Amino acid sequence: MKATVTAHPRFVVSEIDPRLYGSFIEHLGRAVYTGIYEPGHSTADSDGMRKDVIDLVKELDVPVVRYPGGNFVSAYNWEDGIGPKDERPVRLDLAWHTSESNEVGIHEFADWCVSANTEMMLAVNLGSRGLDEARNFLEYTNHPGGSYWSDLRIKNGRKEPWDVKLWCLGNEMDGPWQIGHKTADEYGRLAHETAKALRSFDKSLELIVCGSSNAKMPTYPEWEATVLDHTYNEVDYISLHMYFDNEANDTPNYLAMSEKLDAYIVSVSGVIDYIKAKKRSSKQVYISFDEWNVWYHSKEQDKKILGGNDGWPFAPPLLEDIYNFEDVLQVGLIINTFIRRSNVVRIACLAQLVNVIAPIMTAPGGAAWRQTIFYPFMFASRFGRGKALDLNVDGPTYPTKVAGDISSLDVSAVNDEATGHVTFFVVNRSDKTVEAEFDLTGFGDRAEIVDFQVMTHGNLKAVNTEANMMEVAPRKGEGASVSAGRLLADFAAYSYQMIRVKV
Ligand code: AHR
Repeated sequence: MKATVTAHPRFVVSEIDPRLYGSFIEHLGRAVYTGIYEPGHSTADSDGMRKDVIDLVKELDVPVVRYPGGNFVSAYNWEDGIGPKDERPVRLDLAWHTSESNEVGIHEFADWCVSANTEMMLAVNLGSRGLDEARNFLEYTNHPGGSYWSDLRIKNGRKEPWDVKLWCLGNEMDGPWQIGHKTADEYGRLAHETAKALRSFDKSLELIVCGSSNAKMPTYPEWEATVLDHTYNEVDYISLHMYFDNEANDTPNYLAMSEKLDAYIVSVSGVIDYIKAKKRSSKQVYISFDEWNVWYHSKEQDKKILGGNDGWPFAPPLLEDIYNFEDVLQVGLIINTFIRRSNVVRIACLAQLVNVIAPIMTAPGGAAWRQTIFYPFMFASRFGRGKALDLNVDGPTYPTKVAGDISSLDVSAVNDEATGHVTFFVVNRSDKTVEAEFDLTGFGDRAEIVDFQVMTHGNLKAVNTEANMMEVAPRKGEGASVSAGRLLADFAAYSYQMIRVKV
């Protein structure tokens, strides 16, 4: 089976916003407690933050982290997480039926972001609360001083404002499961007024309004049209979420689901353009895909935890998906889709970052390790910055129920003009080897391979565990060659690879 891939420096999709490689930490399960925060752990810093986790987050090079939820935010009082720790209230978290100690709040998270070399993207509670809470929170985080909330921040130990730019106007407000769920009109009005108030404080904020929780919602895509009709001129992004599962244990169709993701992005992009035209607006709203990942491995365990009449546990092991090799391919396909649509998807957040459907796992009091999906995310985040290229891929296909005939080879490429490196991310999602030729002659005839990383495994269900952390890991690729601007490489059945070429 043969394929050809043509790349040319003048065929560009878009300059990628680095925030395409964002992530997410929610007060959920062990994401915060025994995830990023574990005082007494052998690696904990003076704030109780685990340095072993910080090191892994830095390895992923995550530019932005969404916080504090998720469903959690829709009944959260941010004021519970400020002031002396021993005076903070323990609250019942209605979203996940757990207890929240509030030991970690905005100050602790902000300090952690500095240590982890990332920025905050904050969500306000538009479920149980509203505009007033949102404007107070913004004044607390971003005003230099001389007002009630900013002076309280200073009293609580932080003199300089954090100047948080990215704000989510609630979370999944279309979902009946959401505390304070609303109709599109109710939410659209509230989001508009909240955005207006936040903008009155600072015009340069970047505001994200909630789109659909997934493309199967009965209200999709009317929800997007109605909400944007209310908010178009006050917001910068509409948020989308999507999770992927292989509950049917049907690999060919599982690996076709990124085509659904692509269709979802294209449709919402159409709705954005429709409202833009309707409003005769010159402004462009983009997509913030601020929750995405594989999520299904933990569902049985979660049913037991949530269904077993255990009261209100503190930091139980919820949503602890253990990812397998097949999920490496899925995550690679999802990221390739975002890169190819980076002209409309400007921000994306891998949900989540630690323990909860996450690339990083921890044992309380023990080690931290990389799940299988850590690697495709890391390669893209570190080397997928620059200009996304509009490739021509011509090669074998295979038939699927999910999306018809789909390309066996899924490829994205990013041209980093600063380093002169073009990086290809290639997933062979078929069960046959594909021999590919990359035509790079548009870049000249002096291309050379600087790195070639491959992930394959004889067992699609292989996982990394605390006892065997490196079962699924990348290795140096072999056998690729380049001459006169033509790169030849074989891509094994069910494989992920990153090839960096100096042009
Ligand atoms: O990421 C887990 C949950 O998935 C989030 O809390 C919610 O927004 C989504 O439904």
